[in-house]
Amino acid sequence: MPAEHEMDINSNASESIHGALSDMYSREKEWSEFEKTRSGVKGLVDAGIINIPKFFILPSEEQLMLKSSSSDANSIQLQVPVIDLEGSRGDRRNEVVAEIRKATETWGIFQMVNHGIPVDVMNGLLESECQFHDQPKEVKMEFYSRDPNKVFQYYSTHSRESETALWRDTIICNIEAWTASPESLPPVCRKALRSYVEHAMKLRDLLSELLSEALELDHDHLDRIECMESSKMVCHYYPACPEPDLTIGTPKHSDPYFLTILLQNCIVGLQVLNDDHWVDVPPVPGALIAIVGDLLQLISNDKFKSPEHRVLATRYGPRLSTACLFSPRSENKYRSYGPIVELLFDNNPPIYKETSQGEYLRCYISNELLGSRVLTRFKR
Ligand code: OGA
Ligand code: NI
Repeated sequence: MPAEHEMDINSNASESIHGALSDMYSREKEWSEFEKTRSGVKGLVDAGIINIPKFFILPSEEQLMLKSSSSDANSIQLQVPVIDLEGSRGDRRNEVVAEIRKATETWGIFQMVNHGIPVDVMNGLLESECQFHDQPKEVKMEFYSRDPNKVFQYYSTHSRESETALWRDTIICNIEAWTASPESLPPVCRKALRSYVEHAMKLRDLLSELLSEALELDHDHLDRIECMESSKMVCHYYPACPEPDLTIGTPKHSDPYFLTILLQNCIVGLQVLNDDHWVDVPPVPGALIAIVGDLLQLISNDKFKSPEHRVLATRYGPRLSTACLFSPRSENKYRSYGPIVELLFDNNPPIYKETSQGEYLRCYISNELLGSRVLTRFKR
């Protein structure tokens, strides 16, 4: 190659590196200015933006991937199972257990109806979350924090490494901690949060029995190993997005705990990966969603699947969701969990090493960018 061309290429390369750096710098700066407003993504939408700021825009390869994958599932008509829990404490027990076994082995996610949480308790929670986000900026700002030691956090999310922000505002409640200090919850959602959690814990108890039986164990097995005694509540608020194809609400992930009970409002957006197809998890009136977490897959020795899922940004909104993520109590954070001995046979040896909730989360957080499943790192 003639020397002058080589020079050209070098100077182009240095220009583009320079361009990328200054782009990164300006995204970082715009993000930190946005974060200083402490008014969330909703604040931008309320201000009437028509184009989304650059720091929300996904790299073009990712936009293309979203576009090509978001429509394929509907054409092949895969449907997330909907399970009626009516009679699961009585005459329909075996039937319900069989349906849950099938759903957790193939999908790792299912919708539940007649689950025992009254509709007004679910609606009350979603309404109170809306009320929180609808408060004047000055009131909300007080709660803006990403400090995991707080009982209540409210924040927007930005990945420092990929320099892309997510189209959502988040509230996190640490349920274990709030019992000790209920006054740390914002008054607008205090009552609704407590009432929902009380019911969610009862549903967790029922699911713990049904999942134990679906694994062909004693009904109280999961209860005895104390793997879902505590819960963190993660509530996302996805504002209507003027340019939904350019960004994402929640990127692909699996849940790094034991079990998730998810409540969503009537706006579509949640999708689950099944057989390499992204399938919508459509809002079903009155339903709740159960999702197997990575650690339940681990202790079930791959009998249950922990599914990857994501939330698209949409033109309609706001979309609200509340996930109760069940895990061991904080004093058991480093208690070891491995494949359940009763499930192991000569022809079914343990696939995973023992680990703890704390160790797993640490690995999950540090792995965030690698894109591969964290669970595979715990294989023997
Ligand atoms: C989560 C999650 C889904 C949703 O918080 O882990 O997957 O619908 N949420 O927001
Ligand atoms: Ni999730």
